[in-house]
Amino acid sequence: MMFSLNKLSPSVTDMIRFDHSHVLVTFHQYTTAARPSVKKALAETICDALEIHATLEEEVFYPVLRRLNGTEPVIQKSQPEHDEMRRLIAELRATGPTDRRHDQLLHELMRDVMHHVADEETMLLPEAERMLDKNRLNELGAQMTRRRLELLKPKVGKIAADTAVGFSGSTTAIVVGLASALVAARFVTKKATA
Ligand SMILES: [Fe+2]
Ligand SMILES: [Fe+2]
Repeated sequence: MMFSLNKLSPSVTDMIRFDHSHVLVTFHQYTTAARPSVKKALAETICDALEIHATLEEEVFYPVLRRLNGTEPVIQKSQPEHDEMRRLIAELRATGPTDRRHDQLLHELMRDVMHHVADEETMLLPEAERMLDKNRLNELGAQMTRRRLELLKPKVGKIAADTAVGFSGSTTAIVVGLASALVAARFVTKKATA
């Protein structure tokens, strides 16, 4: 049973890339001219997605990379960058959307995340794919999916509501919605066959 789920799961590196794409699309929806309710909903969508993604990397992906090559500078600075990201998230959440500081904090977070994502996608993910075989990458992907469902469970209603407000009136919502539906469908299909 476990073997089938692991074998059919998307690899951990593909999952990380998908998370990065999703959060960057959400950042791109945020404009300083947007309605305060839309700004806050987008900021919350971004904060929830980043918190879950960072926890998944810290629990599932980074420990494996540290065992493979703990002296790699990018893996060494990953945790401090996540810590700084969480500090910005806490400040952003405590700031009202009509406050100019809300825009500044969101853009600071965006800049940091883009830099962090670039390091991961050009160094950590290719290194993981060089050093781990496909079965191991899929096994870690399945582990990440199981943990993601646990982390999502208490937040699923809030995330759905924020996504609906944040992406209201946007054609990008169709793309993001389709992509999310496809990922969910793939997971359900795979789980059913596991
Ligand atoms: Fe990260
Ligand atoms: Fe990441």
